[in-house]
Amino acid sequence: MTGSRIVSLGHYQPSRVVTNDDLAQLVDTNDEWIRDRVGIVTRRIADGETVADMATAAAGKALANSGLNAADIDLVVVATCTSVDRSPNVACRVAARLGIPAPAAYDINTACSGFAYALGTVDHAISAGAARNAIVIGAEKLSEFTDWTDRSTCIIFADGAGAAVVTATADGEPSGVGPVVWGSVPDKGDAVRIEGWRPYIQQEGQSVFRWATTALAPLALRACERAGVAPSELAAFVPHQANARIIDGIAKRLGIPDAIIAKDIVESGNTSAASVPLALSKLVERREVPSGAPVLLFGFGGGLTYAGQVVRCP
Ligand SMILES: CC(C)(COP(=O)(O)OP(=O)(O)OC[C@H]1O[C@@H](n2cnc3c(N)ncnc32)[C@H](O)[C@@H]1OP(=O)(O)O)[C@@H](O)C(=O)NCCC(=O)NCCS
Repeated sequence: MTGSRIVSLGHYQPSRVVTNDDLAQLVDTNDEWIRDRVGIVTRRIADGETVADMATAAAGKALANSGLNAADIDLVVVATCTSVDRSPNVACRVAARLGIPAPAAYDINTACSGFAYALGTVDHAISAGAARNAIVIGAEKLSEFTDWTDRSTCIIFADGAGAAVVTATADGEPSGVGPVVWGSVPDKGDAVRIEGWRPYIQQEGQSVFRWATTALAPLALRACERAGVAPSELAAFVPHQANARIIDGIAKRLGIPDAIIAKDIVESGNTSAASVPLALSKLVERREVPSGAPVLLFGFGGGLTYAGQVVRCP
């Protein structure tokens, strides 16, 4: 049966760097509190860029790194919860700007787990023969949905995009995208909300924190099991970049002392669906993970939703 693999990655971040000291000018907070409780030192905030602008920039880089042409792409999927426009969707905007002539194109919204969900659907589409060459993107402009007077949220969220080109494997070649483990906890849906007309992000920080540090490690381990990869074999763990303490808590429970733990949150903040592909793209760009090595992706957040899979590094 045909599987899929990631052949290349790309990312984009706005040039404007916002420090913790900058935020301390807006709300009653300080650099030490933010570093200790969340682990963020800087974040990137868009000026004029839209979600589609950032998605296109990241996807354009991934496509340029792939050796494929725009005409080869037959599926574009964008994970985002911050697109303002209802139609056309972001995937169609990306396709138009990159000159991809006739792809299947859809957006999905599972908030911070979005990239792993989107990658799961792309893998399924390729395995079913419904697509051969896809671009999957996580892109967010959370700054547009942030209450800049609320110190419990404005210190956390940021903007950016990451993208991967995913293609069908050759006959006999093992799949480079492992089975997705995905699900949700609808009962806890109120814990992270961007609701209503002209909404702002609201969250019950402690209940999200508790859920993330207790419920997710067994689910991430299940993704390893379904891929037939022992946690000790992982070259890297790239979780959603929600909070450095959450990342450390999950990593500790996975028992992966030798794996690289992505901590892009330090310089990029929490970029929701963009955080996993952004962090993975940077690891690959810095050549920190060898090609072919197994990497565990795991997203989680609003919904509450989660999804993860083991992928082979391009
Ligand atoms: C939001 C979060 C950082 C808050 O950290 P916390 O350790 O739970 O902090 P608390 O909410 O208990 O607040 C502790 C104190 O710090 C204060 N505080 C809150 N935000 C602050 C800030 N930005 N700067 C300074 N003090 C702050 C609180 O008012 C409280 O003060 P008090 O003790 O005088 O009442 C943490 O709960 C978290 O990261 N949760 C997960 C959220 C998340 O990842 N969301 C995204 C999901 S994808």
